Amino acid sequence: MSKINKIKGFCDLFPPESNVFVFMEEKARQVFSRYGCKEIRIPILEKTELFARSIGDETDIVQKEMYTFLDRKGRSLTLRPEATAGVLRAYIENQLHSRERVSKLFTFGPMFRYERPQKGRMRQFHQINVEVLGPQAPQADAELLIMLWAYLESLGLTRLDIEINSLGCAVCRPGFHKNLVNFLQNLDQDSLCPDCQRRAKVNPLRVLDCKVARCKSLVQEAPKISEHLCSDCASHFETVLSILDQAGLSYHLNPFLVRGLDYYQRTTFEVVSSAIGAQTAVAGGGRYDGLCKALGGPDVPGLGFACGMERLALLLTDIKEQKLDFYLAVLHEQALNKALILTKRLRDAGYSGEVSFEVKSVKSQLRLANKLGVKTCLLLGVDEIERGEIVVKDMQTGVQQAVSQDDLEQALGLNLH
Ligand code: HAM
Repeated sequence: MSKINKIKGFCDLFPPESNVFVFMEEKARQVFSRYGCKEIRIPILEKTELFARSIGDETDIVQKEMYTFLDRKGRSLTLRPEATAGVLRAYIENQLHSRERVSKLFTFGPMFRYERPQKGRMRQFHQINVEVLGPQAPQADAELLIMLWAYLESLGLTRLDIEINSLGCAVCRPGFHKNLVNFLQNLDQDSLCPDCQRRAKVNPLRVLDCKVARCKSLVQEAPKISEHLCSDCASHFETVLSILDQAGLSYHLNPFLVRGLDYYQRTTFEVVSSAIGAQTAVAGGGRYDGLCKALGGPDVPGLGFACGMERLALLLTDIKEQKLDFYLAVLHEQALNKALILTKRLRDAGYSGEVSFEVKSVKSQLRLANKLGVKTCLLLGVDEIERGEIVVKDMQTGVQQAVSQDDLEQALGLNLH
């Protein structure tokens, strides 16, 4: 029979990489809960319309990256390319807004985008996603960035840069839009990449986000949204930046940061690393006032971010694998059952360990204990069973002694010298 391989751009995760994912999730739970965030679980499959309406019909994600299919009843469904839309759908559907003034929600999980796989870019990837629904105040934007930074610091990551921009709002964006369209129309259209020639007509903001070198250099001269902000947006942005200054967070103002999703307004940001190749963004997010209403909910402001776990994992290469405390080597058939019972006792007492299910030579069992990296190897043979003892061997010093099985928990806590 031929073997079946995984889908291109998808990945199996084993230790030590999977340990890094557990580490990232545990740290997120610790840090986010200090900020009052609650963990939620939502479906990975949603109606296609949810993403078209929130991320935007003209974005690359909706145009060419979604895993969309018809179910058995002919309904169009999509594997989520991101979590924000689903979190908002769930927030509205479960009427969280009527129960709490502010909802701070986080979730982890797989996302799906049909992109060209490369280092740091997968077709199935994982995000740590945070959404804050309710606050309009610029302090909420600053708090969100402070929390994101605290999280990255808790992972031991400090050599990262924050890029930040304001995209204005429904009041100031149209004026900027007009100027941008003028600027783009005056360019030699053939100098833009084919995608941008189309974007210039249907969604000009997206041109600022193009990764093609010649488009990037052309837009350097484009009008800047920061010069067109209305007074409310300008003061909102100033307050955010001033709090970041006071909190000691450094950032880089990037007037071309428009992000790849259409729902953003006002503050947008990315956290980038120069150490992981071409895909530099390890996290991205911003404010999306108006999205909740556009999805049929109340007019609740919102903001959030997502970290790309595969990209963070590229930076977390020295996470140590959790080692077991002991290995129980069985030296005689008659000791097999007793060994398992003793192991249960130790595990119930909080120790982690492995036990042998078969009898092997002392030498090969010690080799296995070494490979497992345990601190202690326990040896149980028929003589030990008769005497109610067990041999405790310190794998570092090599010192071993027989102890009563009754004292095993204490013996494991001892360092033999
Ligand atoms: P995004 O910028 O599309 O934003 O994705 C967030 C992060 O997910 C990126 O910075 C990157 O680290 C990671 N990422 C994206 N695509 C891939 C991929 N193909 N392979 C590996 N990693 C990837 C959002 O998704 C927004 N929903 C964030 C947000 C939440 N905004 C407000 N709330």
